Amino acid sequence: MHDMPGHQIVVGVSGGIAAYKSPDLVRRLRELGHSVRVVMTPAASHFITPLTLQAVSGHPVRTDLFDPSAEAAMGHIELARWADMVLVAPATAHFLARLRQGMADDLLSTLCLATEAPVAAAPAMNRQMWLHPATQDNVSALTRRGVLLLGPDEGDQACGEIGPGRMLEPARIAGMVTERLLARGLLEGLGVLVTAGPTREPLDPVRFISNHSSGRMGYALAEAAAGAGARVTLVSGPTSLIAPARVEHVSVLTASEMRDAVMSRVGGASILIAAAAVADHRPAAYSERKIKKNGAGEAIALERTPDILAEVAGLSSRPFTVGFAAETDDIEANARSKLEAKALDLIAANRVDGPGTGFGSEDNALDVFWADGGTHLEYKPKRALAGELVALIAQHYRAAHPD
Ligand code: C5P
Repeated sequence: MHDMPGHQIVVGVSGGIAAYKSPDLVRRLRELGHSVRVVMTPAASHFITPLTLQAVSGHPVRTDLFDPSAEAAMGHIELARWADMVLVAPATAHFLARLRQGMADDLLSTLCLATEAPVAAAPAMNRQMWLHPATQDNVSALTRRGVLLLGPDEGDQACGEIGPGRMLEPARIAGMVTERLLARGLLEGLGVLVTAGPTREPLDPVRFISNHSSGRMGYALAEAAAGAGARVTLVSGPTSLIAPARVEHVSVLTASEMRDAVMSRVGGASILIAAAAVADHRPAAYSERKIKKNGAGEAIALERTPDILAEVAGLSSRPFTVGFAAETDDIEANARSKLEAKALDLIAANRVDGPGTGFGSEDNALDVFWADGGTHLEYKPKRALAGELVALIAQHYRAAHPD
């Protein structure tokens, strides 16, 4: 088998029973056209021999940071530069803990620190170890730092238990990694502005009008756009989410603040993705003092907020504009009339009435429309859905800007 043009992947193997699947993973990555170099932790060789991994990768396997002959062939810093991705599979609880701490006490952990390439990890461990707050805490810190977590899966475990902690099947890991690497160049060098979350329109110092938007879809889109190589600015209303790594984060409260934040940055953006659930109305008057129970009238007078998306789409030199439509019925007709009324390039419509969809949900499905076509993106976790939508946006953007 020859290394075909593909990406260059360092596969790191740490010491867990799932290491028996690593040769299969290496083989599948090579079948997809990637070049692979394998690095093992010292503990991994209790489960699998370097010779097996050398045979399937076609290259000597490295385990030792201080091996003069291996360092002479390709030094660890060179290897870190060579990698388009470092994929640790299996990643044990111990390895995740060391990665989180930034340890560099063996070759694999040192590579993870020294590389500028994305680091992915496929956790594999006993379910109690996975569910332990220490591991969960490590995993969320690593995710915030931009480490791509693949899995784990649920099911039978080598220890005889059943639950979350199994390593994802090698074919799935190889597929996910390939998708991610292919996505990387999609928006290379482009500025992408994303709006997310609800806005909050104050009535007095303690009360406001807002909506149920969690911001999840917008944050996932910002993360996916950054993963696709874009310079991303995320303008977000109040949410409980942490901004993804490598994304400029601008916090706003009201529709009018969101408008100003967007308009002052739109000049540097090639694409605007308006995922925010901007409040359509705000109280016409703001009371500096708390309105007393019996001081309020029967009704609150409202006025319209600025339509940020329509304003951007109306600019003479405008970015490629993508809007969202949260709908409960007549999805296509409503989305298409919004596409036209606001002169958008693309609109993504989602149902907000069904259980497990729309606001606050972890999963979603989208119907995407453009002037002469449309497509359906299947129900799946918002982060996966965001990757698909970003790929679709990139495709349409490139078609409109062929240079
Ligand atoms: O008209 P409607 O509010 O349904 O349009 C939704 C789309 O318009 C979303 O993309 C939303 O982010 C954007 N929008 C906006 N400013 C508003 C209202 C909506 O940018 N004031």
